[in-house]
Amino acid sequence: LTRACDPVVVKLGGSVITRKDEPLTVDERRLAAAAEALASFYRARGDAPPRLVVVHGGGSFGHYMVEKLRSEKGYLGPLETAEVQHAMLTLSTRLARVLLDLGVPASVHPAHSLCGPRGCDLRRIVEDVILGMVPVTYGDAIPGEAGARIVSGDTLAVQAAALLGAKCLVFVTDSGGVYGADGRILRVYTGSEALANVDQRAPDVTGGMRAKLAEALEYARDHPEATVLIVGVEDLRAALEGGEAGTLVKPMG
Ligand SMILES: Nc1ncnc2c1ncn2[C@@H]1O[C@H](COP(=O)(O)OP(=O)(O)O)[C@@H](O)[C@H]1O
Ligand SMILES: [Mg+2]
Repeated sequence: LTRACDPVVVKLGGSVITRKDEPLTVDERRLAAAAEALASFYRARGDAPPRLVVVHGGGSFGHYMVEKLRSEKGYLGPLETAEVQHAMLTLSTRLARVLLDLGVPASVHPAHSLCGPRGCDLRRIVEDVILGMVPVTYGDAIPGEAGARIVSGDTLAVQAAALLGAKCLVFVTDSGGVYGADGRILRVYTGSEALANVDQRAPDVTGGMRAKLAEALEYARDHPEATVLIVGVEDLRAALEGGEAGTLVKPMG
């Protein structure tokens, strides 16, 4: 049996905490379920809480706003960029409020304050983890000369995990794992299994499940000691405690 995940990075998918089909709408029930899983894991360790970073996605806040504003103008100028940033900050403070109410010292760090044209520097959030905070960051719009670039929550989660030396990197999605060709959730994804649906157009401006899997696989390859999982919100607590749930991402060799 593996020990609990500490340090750990949890990426909450926009598909989990928002209602994909309703613009700018939080899925209150699933947001609460995710926050409760994080909080019960965090609080179970009393005076020695786990070192935890939370990253979340955009769902019907970020992805929706980017698609809408890009289709109107063709790119994200300063005003559109600020609108996307505002939508994401709104979603993030909703999550942080729920975590705070459950006793988790959630501290929002907008990715647009951590990232610039030359990439992201997540050292500030790692410093805060050491000081007992639970940093929350998220996929965001980063201003650029040819319009804003979208940094994905999946990418931020991988970067945070590398910097933190995370023992576990847990992606929470509405799918609850990775569907194999037969439509059933794979227990292990090594990168060579055939997948269902993965090339369907995702409501996701940063590449959906295919991009997530590519990043997760690369991370798992470079950090063989880390556990990389894709799970549903109902399995998050068990995954954090080191149990088996969802799909384990583990390249062969
Ligand atoms: N083979 C697959 N396994 C799991 N999910 C898949 C697969 N192919 C497509 N998907 C879609 O990917 C979505 C999850 O990816 P995404 O929306 O990017 O998640 P996130 O909420 O983390 O951004 C699921 O809603 C699912 O419909
Ligand atoms: Mg996504």
